[in-house]
Amino acid sequence: MVDVRQELIARTKKSREAYESSAQVLAAEVASTIDMPHPFYVAEAHGAKIVDLDGNEYIDMTMGMGPHVLGHAPDCVVEAVCDAAPRGLQYGIHNPHQETLARLILDPSPALDQVVFGNSGTEATLYAVKAARALTGKRKVGLFDGSYHGVHDYVLATPNRNSPRSAPTAFGRGAGIPEDVTGQIAMLPYRDEAAFDQIRAQRDELALVMIEPVQSSNPQRETKAWLQELRQVCAESDVLFAVDEVITGFRLAWGGGQEVFDLQPDLATYGKIIGGGTPVGALAGRAELMRCFTQSREAQQQAGFEPVRPVFAGTTFGGNPLTMAAGTAHLRYLRDHREQVYPELERQSDRLAAAINSHCESQGIPARMLNAWSMFHLVFGATEIHGSRDIQYEHLEAEREFYLHLLYHGVIIPGLHIAFLSAAHGDAEVDAIIEAFERSFADIRERGLI
Ligand SMILES: Cc1ncc(COP(=O)(O)O)c(C=O)c1O
Repeated sequence: MVDVRQELIARTKKSREAYESSAQVLAAEVASTIDMPHPFYVAEAHGAKIVDLDGNEYIDMTMGMGPHVLGHAPDCVVEAVCDAAPRGLQYGIHNPHQETLARLILDPSPALDQVVFGNSGTEATLYAVKAARALTGKRKVGLFDGSYHGVHDYVLATPNRNSPRSAPTAFGRGAGIPEDVTGQIAMLPYRDEAAFDQIRAQRDELALVMIEPVQSSNPQRETKAWLQELRQVCAESDVLFAVDEVITGFRLAWGGGQEVFDLQPDLATYGKIIGGGTPVGALAGRAELMRCFTQSREAQQQAGFEPVRPVFAGTTFGGNPLTMAAGTAHLRYLRDHREQVYPELERQSDRLAAAINSHCESQGIPARMLNAWSMFHLVFGATEIHGSRDIQYEHLEAEREFYLHLLYHGVIIPGLHIAFLSAAHGDAEVDAIIEAFERSFADIRERGLI
């Protein structure tokens, strides 16, 4: 049997050099990668493919962790960036480009009127929490078991695994988070009606309930009725309701999770796709809520609203012209080609998941490809996944080896094993992914790991 680890090491000598040298000056790299003795380093990426420093080519299912719904470096975005760059990279003064992108973001979402820009999804969810607290005078934020909303302390919590499934408690994720900050997070059970009573019971404390329309760690489609009831319960309880569309926005459909689940939120957060591959974040909401970002109380009053103390917002690069150009080109392309892009992406995604799942079933492989539209997570072990707690981690060695073999067979899914397809993945790429999965399953079975 080929020693895949040794083969990969031999193929990636330049990555090894890069790793040894960068470890001297980088405390951490962007995200964890494939479990090799050294990570591999990317030289360039086009469409569905990436090329490493040694010139090896792989089919990529990372897709930049979500932004590249059209594939890497689509012509429309590259041209827009090249066109914008000579006219200035960053002004720090008003420019007309924010309005153009804001109008595109709002276009498919009838519930939303206004936008503020930041540089990451993290900033977007930070603004959502601050706005909700400022507007309601309440402090708590309801988040769901299995969710992820970025790296700021107001949302960085995991469910305490010893707490009951239907009544989870929040546990600060990683060091450095004050306990009283985590204490302001109400951890709610996902896809569980018990969440509704917990929201009702905490209605006087909850400023906001925020949810990903599809969780990236647990991509499920069958949530529409539950999400709609959740929205209703929030409205009846005077708790603001935000959808975190940082991944799902402009990925599931032109109108994101709001369109496919027919949701009218108070607030929505965006990132990833709306920047066309450049750093971005945005909070959008109803005008009467977004008034809290208008810095003058007089201006709030003139717009017909009861004035509130403004939320401080503003970062050096928020709304920078390069991001606005990239995001505008990306969203314009998606808007103008939505009839082709989204149905085809869904068709390829469902075809991929169905082929892998039928292979696993027929071969008795204890794994299942979860997918909701073009978001994927291969889970080993459990056959029925309701919430993230059903995802088992007892097959870690098999999982680690599986992704190593997948890389050897030409497909990369790094880090947390959350994967995406893009419009650049055509029949040939999807067929090659299916074949690579089948060969990798066979390899780890041969090694006695499943
Ligand atoms: C749903 C969701 N919200 C927020 C974030 C944070 O975005 P960023 O990494 O751009 O800060 C992410 C990142 O993956 C995300 O998936």
